[in-house]
Amino acid sequence: MDFADKRAVVTGAASGIGRAIAAELAARGARVLLADIDSVRLEEAVAAIGAGASWQLCDVSDHAQVEALAATASERLGGCDFAFANAGVITSGRMTRMSPTEVDWILGVNVRGTWSTATVFARMMQDQTEGGHIVLTGSEHSLGLQHAGAAIYTASKHAVLGLAEVLRAEAPENLSVSLFCPGLVGTALGSGPRPEGLAASPPQSEAGRMIQARGMSAEEAARRALDGVAAGEFYIVTHPHSLRAAEQRFHEIEGAFARQAPWFEGAEKVGRQFGDGRSHRRAQKPPELEETNRAIHPSGPHRPDRFAVVPGLHELRRCRAAATPGSCLKRTAARSSAPRWNPGSTSSTRPTNMPAARPRRLPGGH
Ligand SMILES: NC(=O)c1ccc[n+]([C@@H]2O[C@H](COP(=O)([O-])OP(=O)(O)OC[C@H]3O[C@@H](n4cnc5c(N)ncnc54)[C@H](O)[C@@H]3O)[C@@H](O)[C@H]2O)c1
Repeated sequence: MDFADKRAVVTGAASGIGRAIAAELAARGARVLLADIDSVRLEEAVAAIGAGASWQLCDVSDHAQVEALAATASERLGGCDFAFANAGVITSGRMTRMSPTEVDWILGVNVRGTWSTATVFARMMQDQTEGGHIVLTGSEHSLGLQHAGAAIYTASKHAVLGLAEVLRAEAPENLSVSLFCPGLVGTALGSGPRPEGLAASPPQSEAGRMIQARGMSAEEAARRALDGVAAGEFYIVTHPHSLRAAEQRFHEIEGAFARQAPWFEGAEKVGRQFGDGRSHRRAQKPPELEETNRAIHPSGPHRPDRFAVVPGLHELRRCRAAATPGSCLKRTAARSSAPRWNPGSTSSTRPTNMPAARPRRLPGGH
């Protein structure tokens, strides 16, 4: 996949990573529409990029403005091959000291804005014969690294992970999806304007400035983002240490399962009763990813659409082998006799504000 003569839209493109992605796209031959809430810096960015770049004001937390952005892409570029849902904001402070206004702002831009951008452009791309590619900017905080002092930001980036995964699962053949998860990048994130009613962000401390300065350059991050897209990667990552955080989280989850709900023969069938019965789509599994999975788990069953990419699964398999099926099944039976809401049931214990469930045929025989 290359970018020559392609049409691209980038949100949050007036500065930092978004601006660098727009410049890199143009350098690789694409025509780019830059979107942001900062018209002065948008104009500067477009002037610096030169031919093939244009801009439009767009607050991604306003769905109507994102729809207007898509209409502009249709008019000016004749469609859109790559949409980068990149706009994002952060605010620092302990979770217990956040105000509801701050929470709404961060979730409005980082989650709702990312959802709007991905949704509006996915619809447009689905109707194009050539399809398209959506890139959502998550973070290493999407993968397991907790940002102490930025709980809502961390939560928002987990939500972006969820959006990307589900969009990929639901996408038709002509739509592909990537999740860009950079580590620290030297940008002005956190020092931009804040909505009316919110106190100005405190000036960055010397320590904070030094940390930010140690980040990867926005230009390097942008190159990696585009290389990842060109290679058909879903997870596009930049900093090796982020993997340690993901592993640490997985090992903790793995330990919890080993102690409380160890694997037993047939567990998968029981588990499916609580899902929708359909296996995950196997879309977008580039051959190189399959190779990576085989390298990590050479002897295990090859299940790239489930857990196989997560290092440490062998522990779970060991625990499955050691588990005594009888005890687990007895526990499952005891639990299932307790009255509780089952998403597949039509009983009156279903929450009253939800539509009645349609009767479903459960896979696996019972
Ligand atoms: N800098 C990092 O270390 C880092 C690491 C991981 C992920 N990220 C993510 O990368 C993305 C870009 O951040 P950055 O580091 O380049 O910061 P940045 O502040 O330089 O760029 C963010 C841009 O988004 C724009 N923006 C803010 N609210 C908007 C809105 N409502 N609608 C449209 N645009 C809006 C800002 O004006 C700004 O130009 C963000 O999603 C951020 O969470 C950054």
